[in-house]
Amino acid sequence: MDAYYEDETVQLYLGDMREILPALAVTADLIVADPPYGETSHGWDRWPDGWLDVAARHAQSMWSFGSMRMFMRRAAEFSAADWHLSQDVVGHDEGDDFHGDINIVWEKHNGSGFARDRFRRVHEHVLHWYRGPWAGVHQDVPRVPYSGPNKSARGSANRAAHTGVVGASSYVDNGTRLMRSVIKAAAVRGQKRHPDEKPLPILDPLIRYGCPPGGLVIDPFAGSSSTLEAAAAAGMRAIGIEGREDYCEASALRLAAMPLLLDGGAA
Ligand SMILES: C[S@@+](CC[C@H](N)C(=O)[O-])C[C@H]1O[C@@H](n2cnc3c(N)ncnc32)[C@H](O)[C@@H]1O
Repeated sequence: MDAYYEDETVQLYLGDMREILPALAVTADLIVADPPYGETSHGWDRWPDGWLDVAARHAQSMWSFGSMRMFMRRAAEFSAADWHLSQDVVGHDEGDDFHGDINIVWEKHNGSGFARDRFRRVHEHVLHWYRGPWAGVHQDVPRVPYSGPNKSARGSANRAAHTGVVGASSYVDNGTRLMRSVIKAAAVRGQKRHPDEKPLPILDPLIRYGCPPGGLVIDPFAGSSSTLEAAAAAGMRAIGIEGREDYCEASALRLAAMPLLLDGGAA
């Protein structure tokens, strides 16, 4: 099958993901899906029946963007396709009995929807789903720089300046902390390539969490290929599928310009 766009890192296919993915016969480390949830008047915004089953045959790990309304309405379909919500996994560290959060709230800064009878909506959800044993799913929570009070010295007035090592079990503070489950990233504004174009700063941590370095990410609803660009920038390979040719065209232009961007415009 011919790709609409292809280079050493990414491939984009034009067509229905329910036909293209089975024909490609690939297994990915991670799916990043931004499906049409059928909540707008856009012509492409129709829930593709059966897509969760198709996705399930190509990866064990998946992020899906979506509204609470969509996830609640489609919960039985996720479950029937054997996708489990990662939120339900109990922590695995010794003696650890808390539920960590793998459902991301994307805080957009600028909102959408200004109905007078609702709170102004400035967020979206991204939920992580997995199949098979949790231990078989790649998980690497990104860390972010931290400059607040030193964790190990907290609450101890007499402790000497922190050395980075505490007690018998060594704790080395490398100045980072686990990324938080609420991620701020401004929505794409102005000249958008797609009405629902996702910003790279929200995609980057999702990809780094679920895909090992050099691994393969699939976006079955690629739109303007934001996931493909974010994956390539993070050092992963990516395959995108998009049902509309105009978005594939916009994607091809974007992806062809990508090496220049990744080189910092030096080329
Ligand atoms: C929410 S948008 C994705 C936007 C994308 N994340 C971006 O950053 O540009 C969903 C996309 O899925 C595409 N689509 C809808 N049904 C599809 C199908 N069955 N197979 C492939 N693509 C489909 C639509 O044309 C639309 O561009």
